[in-house]
Amino acid sequence: MIPVFLKNSLRRIYRRLRPIKAERILGVEFVNICNLHCAYCYRDEEMLYGKAQYLDPARLFDLLDAAPETLKPISVSLTGGEPLLHPRFSEVVRGLDERRVRFKLVTNGWHFDRVYEDLRRARKRLTGISFSLDGHTREAHDTHRGPGSFDRVMKAVALCAAARLPFQFNVVLRRDTLGQMERLAVLGARLGAQVVNFGAMLPTSAALHREWGLSRAQEMEARREATALSRILSVPVRVLFGLYDDAPGAHCSPLNGRSLTLDYKGQLRLCGNLSSFRGSPAEGDVPAGASSLSLDDGWARIGEIGKQALRHRDDALDRLPASAGRPDPVLGSPCLSCLNHFDKLSPEIRAHLLAS
Ligand SMILES: C[S@@+](CC[C@H](N)C(=O)[O-])C[C@H]1O[C@@H](n2cnc3c(N)ncnc32)[C@H](O)[C@@H]1O
Ligand code: SF4
Repeated sequence: MIPVFLKNSLRRIYRRLRPIKAERILGVEFVNICNLHCAYCYRDEEMLYGKAQYLDPARLFDLLDAAPETLKPISVSLTGGEPLLHPRFSEVVRGLDERRVRFKLVTNGWHFDRVYEDLRRARKRLTGISFSLDGHTREAHDTHRGPGSFDRVMKAVALCAAARLPFQFNVVLRRDTLGQMERLAVLGARLGAQVVNFGAMLPTSAALHREWGLSRAQEMEARREATALSRILSVPVRVLFGLYDDAPGAHCSPLNGRSLTLDYKGQLRLCGNLSSFRGSPAEGDVPAGASSLSLDDGWARIGEIGKQALRHRDDALDRLPASAGRPDPVLGSPCLSCLNHFDKLSPEIRAHLLAS
């Protein structure tokens, strides 16, 4: 008989030495609608403000329950539309907790008080709450998200801080937020955010891009600023996705096979940014039979769709003659190139971007 203390020590040593499997992420577009109206939002207007549709929790749990060990661990990332509008939010959080599935969510924070207790109860599985911020002051944030939004999100942050729930800020990089990076990062550090993330704005019209889009030089400035702020502050500051980067290969988790999206219709598809993209009915990122695919088949079939998108860009970069200089703004940006591959960019935006 092995004494208990020895058994526990052996278990601890095993846990330290065993190879750690990279976690896969299932992005969940939980709801199609939203309670706010951000002008720059990439999601389709009719879908955001049309008939409410909510993901059936049974589809999510069936997928997770049938997932083979080879795909695990799988974590879930709830987004939307606005995920807190799902009428069965509590049931889903409870179900994830019971299944020991780690999860996070991306929210505008407006209805946080509705779900706060559910999240507290499931805190063991909750890896983070991403609050979307559009400015470091009430005025700056509310310009994009509407009156009352800043106060609501700050109230949500205060609840998280009091209950020690992990949270972070996600900020879309535009001309206005570029100039606020330091103040946004300091706000995050002061309030106890785990991290402050900045991500490029996906352009949905030429007019918006003209008004808010960054030039390549400004994108470089944002990268340098994030590195400098990370050095100075107690909070990591990261520039996440979508900026110009002409290196070939995968730059994101969907294209490197680490994540998939389950949309509100129950379809498995490549990436949440491609889903319901404003003004584009194209669905090339959705395989046939997507609403009944298992995770195993979904990862294989959608993985192939992702590989084709990747090959398409890598081949185009390869074919560029040395005399051509840098790739154009669409090919040079991994996200824009992917949106273009799946026919999500309108001819107007494409022409505007290529001329920019
Ligand atoms: C579509 S929202 C859904 C979740 C929730 N409603 C929210 O605002 O956090 C997810 C994230 O996408 C960001 N986002 C919206 N439009 C964008 C765009 N055109 N380009 C890049 N990110 C965008 C939002 O700021 C938010 O952080
Ligand atoms: S960014 Fe989020 S809060 Fe704003 S309109 Fe889009 S889905 Fe709604």
